[in-house]
Amino acid sequence: MGFLKRIRLKKYQDLSPYEVIQVAHWRNSYAIRKCMIERDIFSLKAHKHFIKFLDFPFVKVEDLGAFNFQFVDNDSVELGIFKNPFKKRVGTFLMEQALLYAKKHFPEKKIILKVFKHNRRAIKLYKRFDFKVIKQEKRLLFMERVCANR
Ligand SMILES: CC(C)(COP(=O)(O)OP(=O)(O)OC[C@H]1O[C@@H](n2cnc3c(N)ncnc32)[C@H](O)[C@@H]1OP(=O)(O)O)[C@@H](O)C(=O)NCCC(=O)NCCS
Repeated sequence: MGFLKRIRLKKYQDLSPYEVIQVAHWRNSYAIRKCMIERDIFSLKAHKHFIKFLDFPFVKVEDLGAFNFQFVDNDSVELGIFKNPFKKRVGTFLMEQALLYAKKHFPEKKIILKVFKHNRRAIKLYKRFDFKVIKQEKRLLFMERVCANR
C-alpha cells in the first residue's frame, strides 16, 4: 500500500542558510537565467537582502524548484517559476503546487505571467495549465489564467 508524502513548501524567509545558498545557485545558473527577463547574476549578499525585504510569497518546493506570486493589483497576481536546473520534468509538479498555493491564498485572482517566445518548454507547460496568450511583443508573450479556482 502506498502512502502520501507531505510536500514541503517553504517560504524563502524560512529557509535554512544552506537552502538560501541552494536557491541562489539555481537562480544564478545559466540554464535558468537565460529564460529570465532579469538575467544578471546576483551576489549572495544581494540575494539575502532580497529575501529580507520580500513582501510577496516566494516559495521553495522540496529540492525541485520555486515559484512566486507578485501582487499586481486587486485583481491579479504575477506568477514566476523556475526549477532546480539539475532536475528534469518537474515543471508539471511545480505548477500544480503553485496553483494549489494560489487556490488557498488568493483563489479568485487572475494569474498573469510573461514568457520569452523562445521558451517553448515553459509555454507548453503554461498552456497545459490553461494559461492563454493575451498579448504579444517582439520577444515576449503575455499569458493569463482566469484564476486558480477554475
Ligand atoms: C519552465 C520550467 C519550470 C519547466 O520545467 P520542466 O521540468 O522543464 O518541464 P516539464 O518537463 O515538466 O514540462 C515541459 C513540457 O515541455 C516539453 N518540451 C521540452 N522541450 C521542449 C521544446 N524545445 N519545445 C517544446 N516543448 C518542449 C516537454 O516535453 C514537456 O511536455 P510534456 O510533459 O507534454 O512532454 C523549467 O524548464 C525551468 O525552470 N526553466 C527555466 C526557468 C523558466 O523558464 N521559467 C519560466 C520563465 S517565464
